[in-house]
Amino acid sequence: MDHFEYRDGHLYAEDVAVADIAAAHQTPVYVYSRATLERHWHAFDDAVGTHPHLICYAVKANSNLGVLSVLAKLGSGFDIVSGGELARVIEAGGDPARVVFSGVGKTSAEIRYALEQGILCFNVESPAELHRINAVAADLNVKAPISLRINPDVDAKTHPYISTGLKANKFGIAREQALQTYELAATLEHLNIVGMDCHIGSQLTELAPFVDALDRLLTLVDELADKGIHLQHLDVGGGLGVPYQDETPPHPKAYAAALAERMAGREALTLILEPGRAIAANAGIMVTQVEFIKEGEDKHFAIVDAAMNDLIRPALYSAWQNIIRVDTHTQAPLRVYDVVGPICETGDFLGRDRELAVAPGDLLAVRSAGAYGFVMASNYNSRCRPAEILVDKAQMRVVRERENQKDLWKGEYKLP
Ligand code: LLP
Repeated sequence: MDHFEYRDGHLYAEDVAVADIAAAHQTPVYVYSRATLERHWHAFDDAVGTHPHLICYAVKANSNLGVLSVLAKLGSGFDIVSGGELARVIEAGGDPARVVFSGVGKTSAEIRYALEQGILCFNVESPAELHRINAVAADLNVKAPISLRINPDVDAKTHPYISTGLKANKFGIAREQALQTYELAATLEHLNIVGMDCHIGSQLTELAPFVDALDRLLTLVDELADKGIHLQHLDVGGGLGVPYQDETPPHPKAYAAALAERMAGREALTLILEPGRAIAANAGIMVTQVEFIKEGEDKHFAIVDAAMNDLIRPALYSAWQNIIRVDTHTQAPLRVYDVVGPICETGDFLGRDRELAVAPGDLLAVRSAGAYGFVMASNYNSRCRPAEILVDKAQMRVVRERENQKDLWKGEYKLP
């Protein structure tokens, strides 16, 4: 459930009319709901129940400081994939001691920064990375907390670009090499083995692959214990899907409860979850205005002021996101439209074959845009990136200003 709903035919974000946000801050604009973010975070946190656990929100889904600050105030942990994301977490008031650092290509500078900040753990993806972390930790004369990301080889049955738990993917350490890699880690003096980790993909709509992966990891945890390697936590990654169209992913409560159930009797092993999309996607919309209606030979086009640079998911993954009217009182004929942006590419669409009653000047809202929305925006076609607004009950706060044209060439130089 989220806090975007119609009141008398007008779309509201909590207690603020979306049309008022567009009037005050222009379009395109991203709008987030604090109550929705909090509700989703608590759904995970509550469902795990009394088993020791930490919800590490995946920062990559939406790294706006306003969003991170809301979650930091709840005591959230964070899953990061770069030094930049760690800097954002700290700037937003997050606790580095609750940060796990994922990713296949951590640089020495990023590792040093994370060690200096005292993060909870590095999720290590290769033997070469173990050696690198050990060397940086030796230089700082500390022990680096590490976990190994195991590739459990389960099929997440999701889009190939966002499936990460198969052998063919670049991620993690193969199950067959897991024991020997842990043994290698145990020989490196400046490493402290604290956990095990996996992440099998994103936008998963079934429970079975998650539970399968967890079972495979638990077998390995026991094998390690037999060898005298005792872990403090098990991190199952993120990946729970959201209903964009007619998908019916398990509710976060069912998901977290199923995992917690598998962990029963293992209270010494803290359960870590890294949800991103399930917390942020439906806590955000992108609002855009119709500029022109164009009647093609075969198709009707609603040309809007947002484009693939603002929201790339439809173009990149053929993702379907609902597009709804902000004001349902406007009078226009109902037609089937391709909703397209002004960028010079055929792939520049937000939605295809959408039945809408719209006229120039009308506002549309693209739903489920809170995750992998603004964070994947670019300045392609020298378009200024949109503003981001965080609604908190009846208040709207600018959490990122709209870029202006000078921002477009910030740090660039012309030749004398
Ligand atoms: N942990 C790790 C190690 C990850 O790689 C990811 C996402 C997550 C957690 C969070 O997964 P989530 O709960 O959000 O599914 N840009 C794509 C999604 C890429 C996901 C990459 N990894 C999209 O727009 O669909």
